[in-house]
Amino acid sequence: MNAVPSSRERIRIFDTTLRDGEQSAGASMTFDEKLQVADILDAMGVDVIEAGFPIASQGDFEAVSEIARRLHNAVPAGLARAANKDIDRAAEALRHAHAFRIHTFISTSPVHMKYKLQMEPDAVLEKVFASVSRARTHTDDVEWSAEDATRTEHDFLCRCVEAAIKAGATTINIPDTVGYTTPEEYRALFEMLINRVPNADKAIFSTHCHNDLGMAVANSLAGVMGGARQVECTVNGLGERAGNAALEEIVMAIRTRADAFPFTTGIKTPMLTQASKLVSTVSGFPVQYNKAIVGKNAFAHESGIHQDGMLKHVETYEIMRPEDVGVRETNLVMGKHSGRHAFREKLKDLGYDLGENAFEAAFTRMKDLADRKKHVYDEDIEALVEDGITSAAEGAKVIALTVIAGTGGPQKAIITMDVDGHHVTKEANGTGPVDATFNAIKAILPHEARLSLYQVHAVTEGTDAQAEVSVRLEEEGRVATGRGADVDTLVSSAKAYVAALNKLSIRRQKATDPAADASEPVRVGERI
Ligand code: KIV
Ligand code: ZN
Repeated sequence: MNAVPSSRERIRIFDTTLRDGEQSAGASMTFDEKLQVADILDAMGVDVIEAGFPIASQGDFEAVSEIARRLHNAVPAGLARAANKDIDRAAEALRHAHAFRIHTFISTSPVHMKYKLQMEPDAVLEKVFASVSRARTHTDDVEWSAEDATRTEHDFLCRCVEAAIKAGATTINIPDTVGYTTPEEYRALFEMLINRVPNADKAIFSTHCHNDLGMAVANSLAGVMGGARQVECTVNGLGERAGNAALEEIVMAIRTRADAFPFTTGIKTPMLTQASKLVSTVSGFPVQYNKAIVGKNAFAHESGIHQDGMLKHVETYEIMRPEDVGVRETNLVMGKHSGRHAFREKLKDLGYDLGENAFEAAFTRMKDLADRKKHVYDEDIEALVEDGITSAAEGAKVIALTVIAGTGGPQKAIITMDVDGHHVTKEANGTGPVDATFNAIKAILPHEARLSLYQVHAVTEGTDAQAEVSVRLEEEGRVATGRGADVDTLVSSAKAYVAALNKLSIRRQKATDPAADASEPVRVGERI
């Protein structure tokens, strides 16, 4: 492995999984899920957590507020457009934190100013100064972003950055909003700004890259080589369209290629896998098998030549150690004779810290699984704990399911569910067993939602493996995802479908109850 230089400059990791990541279609998280993600990011050593966009909705406001209250290490940040009402709302949400950051932004590219903002450049420049000044009345830690910076004229970008620093911005973010730039171009952009803008040394420059051309991570690292000292990124690269720069890839590139990137981050890399799994579970976005760092196959060496090389010396094919990113060897762990003590230790080892009730529920489920499945692996335990978290959420629950399937058709499902404390049983036919199951659920929980994703993956190998199902539902612009795990694919499917329906129902209530969600949801791209 490469030698690590002794003194390395620190790169700040600004995580925006809960804001830019959550903004991606279908990835929205519940309040509790956002807290779980914030907790793991905080424990993992993220420097700044962008917790949300407080003016966007009452839900966002409350999540930012609670996250600001509970963080131990990371600084919470809230996003705000260049408008006093946005900035004041962000400050209100963040006020319980020991220290907080307001992140305010406005578009600076000709195309955004003309069509989206319908503002002249001079008016935008005035807003830059005014918005940063307003944010500085609430906190000393103000970040300013030039939305669509990579398609902005250089002279105008320099004037905006100069105005932001003059008004008191301490971080200057240069986003590649549409994922358009290239590494050479992005590096040169930072070099140009840092050389040309007066007082550039008074602020920390930041990268923020989208992955539309698959270059978000390369561009972010190039930005760092050009002088940026903060990287904005998301776990698993979650984000709108093709996503944002992936946190785990940035951090491991800096760590593994310390010779090329003489920097360090504060991230505890053995927590990367756990964070990835959590974000995948709560967002409903599975991690692709061959995803760098956290994909299931990232450390699997299947080919004979590779295996032979690995056996002779691991460094022949391995540039990182699996344990450095929290990948453990898959081992046979539990069985029907395993006791509470061993199970508690195993959960601890897997990074779960469950309360007494959740522990008992998980233990019962593990025993039940051990009765039905020959071998219970780490992945099985993770799936059953995560399924338990989903099932424990508010709303209807699947109690029993019988499905009649086979070549004869039509397939038929009989389901019993707990709805508001009452058991209700219905049956329905369908084109295939999954369709029949979903129709039976619909007979109990009527809805107009469209199924836009149905995905099954086997947690482990073998025909007795647990099936993990992800479902995404869409209804009048609202999107909800659900997950379920069980050795029976149809039971997993029913659980995932009901979990998504429960989330949709919460969103429906919020949309119709003005007290529950007073403000109209706002998207980042909207006019001020
Ligand atoms: O991509 C982008 O430009 C953003 C800004 C709001 C920072 O997410
Ligand atoms: Zn973005």
